[in-house]
Amino acid sequence: MTFCAISVLYRYHIISLGAMGKLIVGNWKMNKGDEAGLQLAQDLLNLKGNVVICPPYTILREVTQLVQKSSLKVGAQDCASHLDGSYTGEVSASMIRNNGCSHVILGHSEARTHRHETDELVCQKVSRALDVGLVPIICIGETREAYEGGGTQDVLRSQLEKSLPKTDQEIILAYEPVWAIGTGLVASLEYITETHQFIQSLTHHKYPILYGGSVNAKNASEILSISEVGGVLVGGASLQADEFRKIACV
Ligand code: PGA
Repeated sequence: MTFCAISVLYRYHIISLGAMGKLIVGNWKMNKGDEAGLQLAQDLLNLKGNVVICPPYTILREVTQLVQKSSLKVGAQDCASHLDGSYTGEVSASMIRNNGCSHVILGHSEARTHRHETDELVCQKVSRALDVGLVPIICIGETREAYEGGGTQDVLRSQLEKSLPKTDQEIILAYEPVWAIGTGLVASLEYITETHQFIQSLTHHKYPILYGGSVNAKNASEILSISEVGGVLVGGASLQADEFRKIACV
């Protein structure tokens, strides 16, 4: 048995599902931008598998240095749509890359809502990230209104058509129903499966698709057991080391 509590037998070795390639991403949002974030990263250091943590900009360099010798990877939560120049308050993709990051979350519903990001802007940001070798994690998802009105597929189709640049470079998608983010409401396993199949069919199975929205240590294992789910994007539950460790070890 590895350090992970729940494991599966795979090719005669006992390894975690995380180690089988499902990607576990922790989105710290605007939390833990100081010593508390460094402590959290420190507490996750011996996690194995495919795990990315996304702290606030303020500690990116310290966190990337701290995790250098571990399997953890580090991502940012946004980047600018421009290369450089007079864009007060913005942080470019190359700055993020130069701070040791490998990934960047783009088009998160909170950025789409609070900063009025459009799909076109998300697409430009994705291109800037790809230019410097960052792997973009592009978030898509329907609002509660669209969900209740049966408009999920139309929303997703439109977001995918407009926010994905034409490229063969590595991209990760994250399906996050907006009504499930930070609400404690989780989409049913059937709904997650159907929606992931829909996204796969639209994108010709080209990208791994994470699920996000109130993922926690209790529900992660069944969500990760869906074959169409390529991993999870975790917000609130990524802020507690014990909780996040359990998710990464299912
Ligand atoms: P949550 O956030 O896990 O707190 O719902 C997910 C996200 O916003 O990526």
